Parts: sequence; structure tokens; C-alpha cells
Amino acid sequence: KDKSTVSITVVGASGDLAKKKIFPALFALYYEGCLPEHFTIFGYARSKMTDAELRNMVSKTLTCRIDKRENCGEKMEQFLERCFYHSGQYDSQENFAELDKKLKEHEAGRFSNRLFYLSIPPNIFINAVRCASLSASSAYGWTRVIVEKPFGRDSESSAALTGALKQYLKEDQIFRIDHYLGKELVENLSVLRFSNLIFEPLWSRQYIRNVQFIFSEDFGTEGRGGYFDHYGIIRDIMQNHLLQILALFAMETPVSLDAEDIRNEKVKVLRSMRPLQLDDVVVGQYKSHTKGGTTYPGYTDDKTVPKDSLTPTFAAAALFIDNARWDGVPFLMKAGKALHTRSAEIRVQFRHVPGNLYNKNFGSDLDQATNELVIRVQPDEAIYLKINNKVPGLGIRLDASNLNLLYSARYSKEIPDAYERLLLDAIEGERRLFIRSDELDAAWSLFTPVLKELEQKKIVPEKYPYGSRGPIGAHYLAARYKGEITTLS
Ligand code: BG6
Repeated sequence: KDKSTVSITVVGASGDLAKKKIFPALFALYYEGCLPEHFTIFGYARSKMTDAELRNMVSKTLTCRIDKRENCGEKMEQFLERCFYHSGQYDSQENFAELDKKLKEHEAGRFSNRLFYLSIPPNIFINAVRCASLSASSAYGWTRVIVEKPFGRDSESSAALTGALKQYLKEDQIFRIDHYLGKELVENLSVLRFSNLIFEPLWSRQYIRNVQFIFSEDFGTEGRGGYFDHYGIIRDIMQNHLLQILALFAMETPVSLDAEDIRNEKVKVLRSMRPLQLDDVVVGQYKSHTKGGTTYPGYTDDKTVPKDSLTPTFAAAALFIDNARWDGVPFLMKAGKALHTRSAEIRVQFRHVPGNLYNKNFGSDLDQATNELVIRVQPDEAIYLKINNKVPGLGIRLDASNLNLLYSARYSKEIPDAYERLLLDAIEGERRLFIRSDELDAAWSLFTPVLKELEQKKIVPEKYPYGSRGPIGAHYLAARYKGEITTLS
């Protein structure tokens, strides 16, 4: 039997992320029997709340997996009994010392490990790190801290945050979370590439024409305008979620599945990238739109957003990796809020078939679309490959069809939420899916110059109606880069 104990403190316990993601993920882990035998969860925030009130708040967001509903209520009760609350200021060593006292009572002399999840904005998390590490770190076991983005606004502020964190924590105590790395289909990317013979040989400029990383949401920044306006879509989605996927997509084969081996390869890709040029970026901002009698608000209609805000809620960008494998291949990113649909996808477009026999014999109307591999991260998780096929019947007619691996049809088990995987990894000390500080630096180096230029030149984002496909400029950018690369030297 395991004699040690893990104490998990959710700092910022009454915030949205804690309620919607962190507590439900912890419960799911408990439900699945993944948490250690001895564990305690503490919510920490400024507001006054009793343990019962915290439990009541948390209980509203817990759900059970479909396949095992019978003992769900019972499990929830057991889980909630392990949840407690401590009210304190984020910059008070004294308040964290009180928390430490309570944690010790629960740990009851066992060998204790402590995990702090900082679900609070970066302007206050340095103080919280200072207080937690000075007053409430584990005396004998490990102390780990999960930090949420944004990690700064640019290279300089990110370096300052890292420097401040490192005054109190060693790099191996810091778990920088990017929840996209915890998504099932993103994890599967390496399996797809490295354990199937048929993909890896095609994974280069020789066969791939372009790769697209697409993030779209069918809702705006409602309720988060204040935060969002300070960052914008490039910092909110591209610099982290999409870039991380790109790095996994494009990296060389790691020496092993060890966290350092994988992160070494990712950082090499990031450092081989050309800093993004203003000419290769299109920015947009959604405006109000009326459809079917309903008026959807524009971005600047949000009271927490300045009327003259130039913050982009949409961006499209063309990026390049200057290495032997990817020289000249455009990596196109597109991310936007308030678009026509919610989805996240990777689309790999292959080159045309050289000397296409069917095109030659039957004319250009039979030159079907090129092959495309699509990895749909969400919703309706799937991997599908677009191939040309003969339509059954007399005569020859080609048709693009999909070889389709739809997860809901293939697997009966529900897909775990990204936060479950990441929290479990943090508890187990597995760093593979967390961002190392050199990765973060490289990611900022790529985007910082263009972010500054956009702000200095006060580039006005192209307006697009709420619920549309985004600004027209993005289509021109894509058209510029989607074509065949003419030289293959
Ligand atoms: C967050 C962004 O990191 O990811 C949000 O800050 C965005 O703006 C969210 O809505 C999307 O996450 P998911 O998992 O719902 O696709």
C-alpha cells in the first residue's frame, strides 16, 4: 500500500477554469481510480467560503462517464469529502502558512507531495508562487506547480516571468500547461506518424504541398473580453495551441518517448522556423450580425472591450520551417472566434500525382483533387484520408472519397478531457506534455516581432460578420500559398 499522500491545491478555485475543467477532471481521475489512495484537494481563493460551500459549487459541475453511471452519486460524495477550502490572499505568505498547517493535518504525518494548480492571471501568479513555495511547499516530498498561459505577452515579458518563477522553483517543478497537448488526437499524432509505415516516408517537402492548422469557434469572447483584449487571437491560440501541434507534426523522430527526447525535437523545429512576417499575416475582428431574427454582438459591443480596439479575434498566417525536411512547405494557421463552426483540425495536402494517367487520358475534368489527410481534433474526433476512387459503373469516372476512422464509430469508450491526462501526468511527474522554458522562448521569438509590428503600425483588423467564415483576406493568403511549390531542389 502506498503510504505517501498527494495534496492538490487549486489556487483560484472559484474561477471559471477551476469550476469547468480542473475539479471535473480531478473527479474523473478519482472515478477511474487514477488518483493515489491518499489525496486531499484544497480550493484556495480570496472569497470567503466554507468547505460545504466549495463542495456545493464543485458538485454542480461534476459528471460521470456514460459507461459506468450506477455508482456515480456515491463516488461523487466520496470525492467531495476529500475537497476542502481555504480562503486567502494570493500574495500573503501568512495565508499560505495557514494553508500549510491545514495540509499537514490532512497529511497526518505521511510522506507528502504537493501539487499547486495556479488558475490565476500571470500578474498575480508570481506572488502566489513565492508565497506557496516559501510557506507551503512539501517538507520531504516533491512540490510541483502547474501554470496556465498566458506566459507573458512577448519574448521580454515571458523571459521576465520565467526569471521570476525560477527564483522560487527549479525547472523540473514547473509544469507549463497547454491543454491542446492533452487532447486525444494530438497525442495520437506521434502514434500515427511513427508507428505506421505508410505515413512517415511521405512526411516531407517531397510529398506534402502544405499543412493547415485550423482552429475555429462559433462563439465570441463573451464574458472574457477584458482578458482577451490584452492578448488577441495570435497569443491566445496560435503562439501556443497551434504552434505546439505544428511542432509535434513536424519534428524528427525522437530518440525515445522520454519527455526530454521529445521536447528536444520539438524545440529544434521551433528554432528552425522563420520569424513570421507581417506580409504573411491577415488579422480580423468580428462585427455584429443579424441572422434569423437574432442579433449576435460584435467584439467591440462587449462593455469590457474599448470601442476602438484593434485586437484581432481572427488571424491567418503562413509559417515556414527552414530545415531539410520542410524547406519551402507552407504551414498555414488559421484561428478565429465567432466563426460559422467550432472545430480544430490538421489538414495535410499532398502534391499532385506526377504525370497523372487519368488526367492525361481523360482531360482535366478528371484530374481529381489531390490526396488529403485530415486529423480532426474536435468535435467528432476522426482521421480521414481523401483518395481518388472510381465511381462504380460502366465508363470511368473518378470521385474523391474518404477512408474514414471516426472515433465514435470505432471506439465505445468516451474520450477523456485533456485536463484529466495533464493532471495525471503532473501527479506522476511525466513532463512530456508540458512546455519546457526553451520551447516557450522559441515560440515567442517566432511571433514577437510581428505582434509588435501589428501594434506599432496600428494595423486595422478586417471586419467579418459574427458566424461567417472570417475575413476574405485569409482566403487570398491561403490561395497565395496553397499551390504547388515550383522548385524541388
Ligand atoms: C483557451 C483559450 O486556451 O482555449 C480560449 O484561451 C479558447 O480562448 C480555448 O476558447 C479553447 O479550448 P477548447 O479545448 O475548448 O478547444
